[in-house]
Amino acid sequence: MTEAESFDAIVLGAGGAGLMCAGVAGQLGRRVLVVDHNDAPGRKILISGGGRCNFTNLETRPDRFLSANRHFAKSALGRFGAAHFIAMVDRHRIAWHEKTLGQLFCDGSARQIVKMLLDECPPDRVSLALGEPVTELEHGVSGFRLRFGARQVTAPALVVATGGPSIPKLGASGFAYDLARRFGVPVIAPHPALVPLWLPESDADFRGLSGVATDVVARVGKVAFREAALFTHRGLSGPAILQVSSYWRPGDEVTLDLIPDLAGDEDIWVRAKAAAPKRALAAELGQHVPARLAEVLLHRLGLAAPLGECRDRDLRRLAQALHGWRFAPADTAGFEKAEVTVGGVDTAALSSKTMATNALPGLYFVGEAVDVTGWLGGYNFQWAWSSGWAAGQALAATATGG
Ligand code: FDA
Repeated sequence: MTEAESFDAIVLGAGGAGLMCAGVAGQLGRRVLVVDHNDAPGRKILISGGGRCNFTNLETRPDRFLSANRHFAKSALGRFGAAHFIAMVDRHRIAWHEKTLGQLFCDGSARQIVKMLLDECPPDRVSLALGEPVTELEHGVSGFRLRFGARQVTAPALVVATGGPSIPKLGASGFAYDLARRFGVPVIAPHPALVPLWLPESDADFRGLSGVATDVVARVGKVAFREAALFTHRGLSGPAILQVSSYWRPGDEVTLDLIPDLAGDEDIWVRAKAAAPKRALAAELGQHVPARLAEVLLHRLGLAAPLGECRDRDLRRLAQALHGWRFAPADTAGFEKAEVTVGGVDTAALSSKTMATNALPGLYFVGEAVDVTGWLGGYNFQWAWSSGWAAGQALAATATGG
């Protein structure tokens, strides 16, 4: 049997959170090994933001994150926030731009972010072990002992940065949850988030609108997002839908205002009728929603006549229907398509300052594995950077005996 190599800390997962944590701890003098079963680091970073990585959001605030404890993210976001990450990006001379709603993207490629995170890891302090699954993981008097391939490694600290189960084909797994439960750390039930929603059979006629996009206000319960919605062959996607999907649970209704610019106006087509009674209702409606959508909506409501032949109450009914189109999604598109996961390692079991578990000294959880989920728009990477940074600092501050 090969002798175990010892490190100050082992970081499991070479995604955004793990690499940030390793870089910070390495710069503060810790010897860190980053272990990942993928054969390349940062695969989700590489495909994010259409290959340009939406790496943070200028509007980063704790109220843009979902968690059973809405205060938990405050400390880490406050200590290493969007401005700190932007300063790092600038230091590495990576050009960026704001696309919309505070979302920052690389001008060039997401590869620059992965390279930056790797360059932040001092080579004499941080090493990577890629492409081998962990076959054993134990905790004993000498700390954590892991086996992968032919190697055996030990460390007094283990940082679990293995993300959530969204997009398994990129190496995502529920490993963090299994490990948490094994060490007595509770897990909040995970759900797919930032994910398309499927329409029920009763709304099957909308599926023919695949490819049609329109500006909406989407609501689930008390939360509302004004952005684009996109019809797909099975349901709805687009930023507004992805945002509300994180709040949606089976059985909930989603409400869409399909004419948000008309701000609750229910008399618009009654006035239009008075002004142009011969005009086709479809043409009138087509000024506010895409023509194909207008057709389906009018067919549903049984309205086909020119404006002048429509009763005022039907025209008001149309406006009401468009301001509040309700549907009960049949399901989400699942973890196969979800950008992130809502739920995860219960923050009640973690220190918000260090990400260390209360249950077992030396065990940390960071990034998407934790029950903190950001809105669409760079918030999730910011959480990865902030939580990874917090744990990296803590590793350096703790006398780990390595
Ligand atoms: P992440 O999942 O990135 O990394 C986990 C690592 O652990 C992976 O390298 C994985 O291989 C490894 N791992 C898993 N199980 C393991 C095991 N058992 N053993 C060893 N290693 C294991 N966010 C955002 O803010 N802006 C954006 O533009 C996008 N875009 C985007 C696009 C797409 C298509 C997706 C799927 C997601 C996004 N996101 C995003 C979300 C973002 O990618 C996500 O929040 C972060 O990658 C989470 O970072 P972590 O480091 O926590 O996990």
